Amino acid sequence: MSAPSDTQRMEKIVSLCKRRGFIFQSSEIYGGLNGAWDYGPLGVELKRNLKNYWWQVTVHQRDDVVGMDGSILTHPAVLKASGHVEGFSDPMIDCRTCKAHLRADQLIEKKGVKQCPNCGGKDLTAPRQFNLMFETHVGAATDESSIAYLRPETAQSIFVQFKNVLEVSRKKLPFGIAQIGKAFRNEINPRNFTFRSREFEQMELEYFCRPEQGMELLEYWKAERLTFYENIGIPRSKLHVLTVPDEERAFYSKGTYDIEYDFPFGRQELEGVAYRTDYDLSQHQKASGKSLEYFDEETKQRFAPHVVEPSAGVDRIVLALICEAYSEDQAPDEKGKMETRVVLRFHPRIAPIKCGVFPLLKNNPQLVAKAKEVVGLLRPQMTVFYDESGAIGRRYRRQDEIGTSFGITVDFETLGEKDPALRDTVTLRDRDSMKQERVAIQDLPAILRERLA
Ligand code: GAP
Repeated sequence: MSAPSDTQRMEKIVSLCKRRGFIFQSSEIYGGLNGAWDYGPLGVELKRNLKNYWWQVTVHQRDDVVGMDGSILTHPAVLKASGHVEGFSDPMIDCRTCKAHLRADQLIEKKGVKQCPNCGGKDLTAPRQFNLMFETHVGAATDESSIAYLRPETAQSIFVQFKNVLEVSRKKLPFGIAQIGKAFRNEINPRNFTFRSREFEQMELEYFCRPEQGMELLEYWKAERLTFYENIGIPRSKLHVLTVPDEERAFYSKGTYDIEYDFPFGRQELEGVAYRTDYDLSQHQKASGKSLEYFDEETKQRFAPHVVEPSAGVDRIVLALICEAYSEDQAPDEKGKMETRVVLRFHPRIAPIKCGVFPLLKNNPQLVAKAKEVVGLLRPQMTVFYDESGAIGRRYRRQDEIGTSFGITVDFETLGEKDPALRDTVTLRDRDSMKQERVAIQDLPAILRERLA
């Protein structure tokens, strides 16, 4: 069988996401809201596992990082000072033939002539700047004075709260403030499934330091972030570090890396790691008139710290995890005939469901009772899915397709009917190798904990 093309692979992934409850189009029954997505029962578990692991390694396992959770509604003064009101825009071009609104970099060029990628039309408007922020009004009045924005990045509330967090946490430089939360951008052309959305989540760390530490910490965080991706099952060979060239970098940044992943639709950014100097704190200090300086006890100097920022997109990483996990192989069906098996090979750390528990037969009360006992034993420690319907091979396939790491089957040997020595043992099946082993029920929590870590 020839390998499916990347487009086919992406179509299969999008279809699986809907069919098994990872990701649905938002407001689907009303025709859908472009650029917005809803995560279903499995998608929300996957997303939560990713965010929890990021929080664990970025905040809980470090002495030098604390967390915060800022508001989404943002005072316009914050985004004026940061430069977003003036400059957070993309050049937009309209196609006069099919009326499409296009980002200037999405035009195609044939024989030196720019064309609309939708209809091939050459009658295009001149580019104009389109601000990506969503504006809203706070309170009853809807005039200039009531304007607020939905934040376009989580970072700004970290900068604005820098002094408060510094005072309560009593951290010394270098130290970081981390945040996970929603961000909103009115993207001209949302596309590639969830990759470019209008509502998405970010995991951002602002790591404050002395000016002379900036470049070194940029390298440090680049390496840390690459390790993170490997620890959630994205191999180093699929990750690429792009050094953003001087002319494309924000004017205040002294160095920026993009961490990219080979999606089926091409190599695209997952995360930016940027050395933003003291730009943000200095801007807010100037605009608010409030000091955002750090007092160095040793040198007795006051200064606005510099910052290195690893900023990752939750939804893009979730999509990368699903794309990376998706695979098809051959496995025998009930009658021993080989058939195509779809399997999501998630790293156990982020798999939405850790194990499936199956009584061999649903009409045998003893098997069912024993299987429910196993569920009760494991559920306090991990996500467990109980399934008693259909042939056992079908039940395995259903779990393989959603990436459940292990399958546990309670059979007649568990009841001690064939060999008393096997009483209270079950089969433990590994999703990827499909190998089965016999283990004692009482050993299951320890075995699984070790393999899921
Ligand atoms: N605070 C810096 C910042 O926001 P960014 O490169 O604009 O930098 C950081 O965004 C990350 O947020 C990106 O690498 C990407 O993963 C995610 N992101 C940005 N725009 C997105 C969109 N429209 N849809 C999904 N994720 C997005």
